[in-house]
Amino acid sequence: MSIPNTTILIILTFSLYLPSKFETNSISYQNESILKGEKIYMEGIGSTELKIEAVSMGRSIPASIVTCASCHGQCGKGGEAQGMIVPDIRRASYLMRYSMGTNKILSEKEMNKKIKRLITLGINHDGKKVKSMMPKYTMSLKDMDYLLAYLEVLGNDEKCANE
Ligand code: HEC
Repeated sequence: MSIPNTTILIILTFSLYLPSKFETNSISYQNESILKGEKIYMEGIGSTELKIEAVSMGRSIPASIVTCASCHGQCGKGGEAQGMIVPDIRRASYLMRYSMGTNKILSEKEMNKKIKRLITLGINHDGKKVKSMMPKYTMSLKDMDYLLAYLEVLGNDEKCANE
């Protein structure tokens, strides 16, 4: 059986991500954007005047009631939450899943674009509407940037070392 080049490339890229993940396990976040993003992910609280709202089944509720962490977990590992299967959204896992079977590796910019579309419009990486209960969120552009900055490092800090 021959292994396609793209598969090898993806595995290589994946293995580049892993060591950096372990190296950063001992840090706690200092960068201001990342800290603001962490607050959005964990608590649903933004840093601008526009309050973050979650839209679920046509109803708008404060994001602090349905935080990202309540489903995806404090470290982004996913699993079973609120009676549904929630994906692992740590960067290496995301990259692995959505680059697999395509012949290119997603760049950070492309990943962020897809994630933004999912969060705001409920459209998945493959262009289809999500079937799950993940809400759509409205937030300021600034808060979205902070959240995306945090998602890039989600799961890398001390408390997630054993996850
Ligand atoms: C009520 C539970 C729930 C909440 C709250 C939630 N998610 Fe999700 N999320 C899911 C489920 C379930 C999926 C799988 C989506 C699907 O394909 O149906 C998902 C998928 C994802 C994905 C993978 C995207 C893809 O293209 O497949 C990302 C990234 C993500 N969520 C980020 C977030 C962020 C960031 C927040 C907070 C702003 C959040 N989620 C809040 C349940 C949730």
